Amino acid sequence: MTNKVSVDLTGPAKTMLSTLYLKALDADFDEPVLGDRFARSAIERIDFNWDDLGIGSSWAPLLTVRTAQYDIWAHQFLAAHANATVVHVGCGMDTRVFRIDPGTGVQWYDVDFPGVIDLREKVYPSRPNYHLVASSATDPAWLDRIPADRPLLFLAEGMSMYLTEDQGIALLRRVTERFSSGEVQIDFFNWLAIKSQKTQTLVRRSNSTLHWAVNRPDDILGQVPALRLLAATTFFGASTFERVSGPFKVARQVVRLIPPLRDSLQYHRYAFGSPD
Ligand SMILES: C[S@@+](CC[C@H](N)C(=O)[O-])C[C@H]1O[C@@H](n2cnc3c(N)ncnc32)[C@H](O)[C@@H]1O
Repeated sequence: MTNKVSVDLTGPAKTMLSTLYLKALDADFDEPVLGDRFARSAIERIDFNWDDLGIGSSWAPLLTVRTAQYDIWAHQFLAAHANATVVHVGCGMDTRVFRIDPGTGVQWYDVDFPGVIDLREKVYPSRPNYHLVASSATDPAWLDRIPADRPLLFLAEGMSMYLTEDQGIALLRRVTERFSSGEVQIDFFNWLAIKSQKTQTLVRRSNSTLHWAVNRPDDILGQVPALRLLAATTFFGASTFERVSGPFKVARQVVRLIPPLRDSLQYHRYAFGSPD
């Protein structure tokens, strides 16, 4: 008899078990990058053989430095907008809302497939001004139900690559048409990361297929003219990369010489609407 929560996911939805586990592994380090104690307790609550993921703790920085960067950007947006709406698509089991713990002026929406949202409901507590949306992000209907009366932070970490380019561009256009101002904070794989997806263990083991390659901010700006670029960096170039040590630092020296490899994971930050 166990009171753990069972989980039965495949494809893109399953990838978030790996990202959750990597954050939990990081939390056990003496000097964690993210120190996500919520992820640590979540894996205790879920009835899943985590060893089956075939992930070791040395992999944790591959994920946590990205998450840390998006936490920094989200904090910056919320520091400037005490009254805001956060739409966090492809949230998986990420606990950003608990890590950031936004003030009472923020309405926060976590969006993912129904199976993922169902798991979140069973594992995580509810909190005031926090909403779960069980839908594919590509379905146009859910966005229309989100009140558009405040500046928006639209945050998508680790999700764009599961969309086709047409789906992703249509989503970004819908967001900038519905809300009058805000930011889009999103990461992308470039052509090399998409082309080499079968070499990526996490993707292969979940039976997912990656589609959308973005090589530079102009690929987005040319198709979503409402957006203005605020910042663009990469996994290796971001300040959060400085928090890792050992083999990853050596890897940076090598990939510096191979730009498509250096730029394979990109972090983009855009604004839209009137600056305030
Ligand atoms: C690699 S996981 C990342 C999860 C989380 N953002 C994180 O960083 O831990 C990808 C997530 O995107 C979600 N996803 C993929 N395609 C989606 C779609 N069309 N609509 C909503 N969520 C989607 C998956 O279900 C999964 O939770």
